[in-house]
Amino acid sequence: MRKLAAGNWKMNGTSEDLAEIAKLIDAHPKPNCEMLICPPTTLLSRMADCAKGSALRVGGQDCHAHASGAHTGDISAAMLKDAGATHIILGHSERRADHGETDATVLAKAVAVQASGLVAIVCVGETEAQRDAGTTLAVIGSQLEGSLPPSLTSAPDGLVIAYEPVWAIGTGRTPTLDEVAEVHSFIRDTLVKRYGDAANEMRLLYGGSVKASNAAALFAVPHVDGALVGGASLKSADFAPIVAALAAS
Ligand code: 13P
Repeated sequence: MRKLAAGNWKMNGTSEDLAEIAKLIDAHPKPNCEMLICPPTTLLSRMADCAKGSALRVGGQDCHAHASGAHTGDISAAMLKDAGATHIILGHSERRADHGETDATVLAKAVAVQASGLVAIVCVGETEAQRDAGTTLAVIGSQLEGSLPPSLTSAPDGLVIAYEPVWAIGTGRTPTLDEVAEVHSFIRDTLVKRYGDAANEMRLLYGGSVKASNAAALFAVPHVDGALVGGASLKSADFAPIVAALAAS
């Protein structure tokens, strides 16, 4: 399995930030893992141009479930692919919260991404109240049940799951390594039940306050096959050591 270090720039970045991409490519000309940045859509095609011929892949942060049509302001998977995307993040908790995305919405988008031939990165994660109530695994189980496509239409690396506890995003707090291990092994078991042995080859990412200082410990947890990184993906000086930690894991 080729592990995946993914950066989610969220609503950050303008032209001048493309300089970070050149630095990242310089730092990791041939990383021993996949390396991905998902910029805001306004930067996607220019970032893809910067990354041409390098090991860096670029991706989208969301897409519409339909390929085209009367959906003002929306962008389809085919359009993101045309702009140079190879991956699309779906169902991030910020989209679930800010845009009312449900598991059913995420499922429809995941099917659209599969149809476009791109890699879908489907996010799941519990809130702090849900963890405190002891319902973490039930919440993750139901998100997986509702958000994932019925079958794998491509190689198992075409569908990636990102476990991002909502309370760990942008807070500097992370679950304990045992808590991460518990959720990741639960996700693996759930995927194997659903898709069969091929699911052992699916990448499971951890996301939420990943930084250079905690990356190696997180990557040593069983079934953590990479990371989805927010704040620490914006600067190459922060993200490059995370990629290095994954490549060495
Ligand atoms: P932070 O790394 O800033 O906590 O964000 C995580 C995230 O939401 C990535 O999608």
